[in-house]
Amino acid sequence: MQLPNLKKAKERTNKEVKYEETPLITNNKFLGKKYFLRTYGCQMNEHDSEQIASILEHLGMEPCEKLEEADVIVLNTCAIRENAHDKVFGYLGRIKHLKKDRPDVIVCIGGCMSQEEGVANELLHRHPYVNIVFGTHNIHELGKMILEADQNKQDIEVSSEEGNVFEHVNYKRASHITAWVNIIYGCDKFCTYCIVPYTRGKERSRKLEEIVSEVEKLAAEGYQEVTLLGQNVNAYGHDLKENVEFSDLLEAVAQTKIPRIRFVTSHPWNFTDKMIDIIAKYPNVMPYIHLPLQSGSDKILKLMGRRYTKEEYIALFKKMKERIPNVAISTDIIVGFPGETEEDFLETLEVVKTCEFDGAYTFLFSPREGTPAAKMKDETPLEEKEERLYRLNDLVNFYSKQNNDKYLHKTVPVLLLGVSEKDPNKLYGYTDTMKLVNVIAPSNKIGKIIDVYITDTKSFSLDGEMIKEETP
Ligand code: 5AD
Ligand code: SF4
Repeated sequence: MQLPNLKKAKERTNKEVKYEETPLITNNKFLGKKYFLRTYGCQMNEHDSEQIASILEHLGMEPCEKLEEADVIVLNTCAIRENAHDKVFGYLGRIKHLKKDRPDVIVCIGGCMSQEEGVANELLHRHPYVNIVFGTHNIHELGKMILEADQNKQDIEVSSEEGNVFEHVNYKRASHITAWVNIIYGCDKFCTYCIVPYTRGKERSRKLEEIVSEVEKLAAEGYQEVTLLGQNVNAYGHDLKENVEFSDLLEAVAQTKIPRIRFVTSHPWNFTDKMIDIIAKYPNVMPYIHLPLQSGSDKILKLMGRRYTKEEYIALFKKMKERIPNVAISTDIIVGFPGETEEDFLETLEVVKTCEFDGAYTFLFSPREGTPAAKMKDETPLEEKEERLYRLNDLVNFYSKQNNDKYLHKTVPVLLLGVSEKDPNKLYGYTDTMKLVNVIAPSNKIGKIIDVYITDTKSFSLDGEMIKEETP
C-alpha cells in the first residue's frame, strides 16, 4: 500500500532519473474475460490507456463496450478541473451499483486523480468497492495488482516520487494511422493554477535515439503521423546529459520517413527561434502550433506564474506567423482566475483580436487543492465569470470561422482517418494545419493523404471532396 503525498509530489531534487525496461506480465489467468477501459483528460492519458490496454490483453482479456459486461473495469482519470472529478465520481456511482450484483468484478482507478492525496483518501475511506488505485508512475504495476486483487481489501499503489523513465513500453495503439510518442514526462513549470506538476512529477526526457527509433519503427509499420507528447515539449532535453534540445529532436524525427509530425504542448516561454526554423524547414513537420496564452493581462500572467508578458507572447506569435508559411495557431485561455477584473479580461479579448487564433480551448478557472492559486482571494461571482466565458467564446468562434473561410475553394492535403461520425457516407481527416475535414471519398483512401477540394466551411470543420486522380 502506497498513498500519494502532496509534499513529496512538489519536491524537485537533483536525483538522477533512472531509465528502466518496462516489465510486462504475460499470464492467461484472465483468458476469455473482458475489460472495460474508460479514459478522461488529455492526449497523455489517451496514450497511457494504450499501455493499460496492452497490460490487460497480456493477461488474456478482450475489450468490451458495455460496463455491465466487464470482469475488470479501469477508469483512467484526469484532475485538471473539478468537472473532470465530478464525471469520475458520477460514474463510480454506476459501478458501485453494478458491484452489488457482481462482487467479483475488479474495479481499478488510475490516472491523475489517483495521484491526489485527497482523492486517494476518499477512495480508501468512502469507496471500498474500488479494488485497485494505481498512480501515473505505477502503470507498469497494474498487471501484477490485478493478478493479486483481493475483494476484501483495497490495493493502493501511488508513488509521489519524482519518477523514472520506462522504455520499450508495449502499447495497444488505438489507431494504425496516427500514433502518440512520449518525449518528455512530467512538468516543472508549476503554473500556480495547475495540478499537473504534482500528478505527473518531475520533467524527465526520453533519450533522443529511443524516440527516433520508435518513430522509425512506426513509419516502417505504415503509420502516417506521429504526435510527440509532453506536458511541455520545448523543455525537452534540459535534464539529459547529452546536449540536446527540442529543436534537435524535432529535426532528427523530421529526417525519418514519417510523413507527418505534430507535437503538443508548447509553452511560450522557451519556444526558441531554432524550433521555428525547423518547423519551417521540414515539410513533414506540420504547420500547426498549440500555444497556450492563458490570459492577456500581465498582472494575471504574473499571478499565474507564466513567465512571459502579453507583449512577449504577441511577439512570438507574430514571429511564428512570419516565418512559418501557412501556420495555424491555437490556444488555451482560462477565464476568471483569482483577481481577474473586467479590465484584465478585456485585455485577454484584445490579444484574441490581435492574434485571430485558429481555435481556442476556453476554461473557467477551477481551484485545485494543493496549488497556490487555490488559496488566492477570488472575489468575482461565478455568474460574472460565466458571462466573460460566453463573450470570449463568441469572439473565439468568430475567428475560428474566419480562419476556416480562407480554405473555401482551395485544395488541401488531408490525412483520412476514418468514417465521419456525423455522416456515414463521408470520411473524416485533418489538414496539415489540423482542420477537421469531412470528405466525400472512397473508403479505401482511409489512412492516405489525399488532395481535397474544400466546398464549405463551418466554425469547427470544413467540408470537401476528393480531387479525382488522373488516370494514366
Ligand atoms: N482551471 C481551469 N483551467 C485549467 N487548465 C489547467 N489548469 C486549470 C485550472 N485549474 C487549462 C489550461 C491548460 C489546459 C490544459 O487546461 O488552459 O492549458
Ligand atoms: Fe488531466 Fe493534466 Fe493529467 Fe492530462 S496531465 S490527465 S490534462 S490532469
